[in-house]
Amino acid sequence: MTDFPRLPTAFRLIDRDVVDSTNAIAKTLAEEGAEDGVLVWGRRQTAGRGRHGRDWASPEGNLYLSLICRPGASADKLGQLSFVTAVAVAEALEPFLPAAHKLELKWPNDVLIDGGKVTGILLESSMSADGSRPWVVIGVGINIAHHPESTDSTTPPTSLKALGEVDVRPERVLEAFAERFSFWRRAWLGQGFAPVRAAWLRRAYRLGVDVTARLAPAPVTGRFVDLDESGAMILDGADGRRRVTAGEVFFPTGAEGGDASGN
Ligand code: BTN
Repeated sequence: MTDFPRLPTAFRLIDRDVVDSTNAIAKTLAEEGAEDGVLVWGRRQTAGRGRHGRDWASPEGNLYLSLICRPGASADKLGQLSFVTAVAVAEALEPFLPAAHKLELKWPNDVLIDGGKVTGILLESSMSADGSRPWVVIGVGINIAHHPESTDSTTPPTSLKALGEVDVRPERVLEAFAERFSFWRRAWLGQGFAPVRAAWLRRAYRLGVDVTARLAPAPVTGRFVDLDESGAMILDGADGRRRVTAGEVFFPTGAEGGDASGN
């Protein structure tokens, strides 16, 4: 028996046993004019999608949700929502983890535990026809009971269960995420990106060490020193300081990207 999740009143939950992709459903609803706060939850997805056209394996037991946001922020700021989301996921998962486990945020928007990817975030957005009501669909997949086979990524997929946390139900993680997301979205709308950026940097994976970003025509290596207002990674390299935006990173087909793994 499922015991139904309780969410803050700002959310309107649409729950389904099986969906193709919660992001696909939420995008259709957003295009039809659905309001801010509609949250689509699927217990299982048959066509879950990841970043860069990858699939997102979605058996029952994990959390799959997509949230429609019409935040009233200017379009150039909407990308900051992926950092708002990553911080909210981190704070939602932390209470379920014994202190021995290390939770980190990997640029631009993965959540790692003990170096394995436990959560992927996929933002999809558009302007309405007249450009006045931009929407963002925030898709979040959290590996609770399952994760796919390891890849050759430096951050192979993992799940809460694989880490020994066997008793967490998706409903409870959904509630925790909704509460933390509400908090951080309010902070972001009220105070701007600064508090979100600080909370993200406190948990940043590989901050202060050399990282390599796959850029065309050549990779760039530098010490990861900061995140700027736009969410770009700032690298200090041999040729000076360089911004790297998520859109610039190159993902060879069928290979693991420089900043991401599948789930
Ligand atoms: C990534 O590739 O890291 C992002 C994965 C995002 C997966 C989630 S699961 C819920 C939502 N629906 C989808 O089809 N994708 C996102």
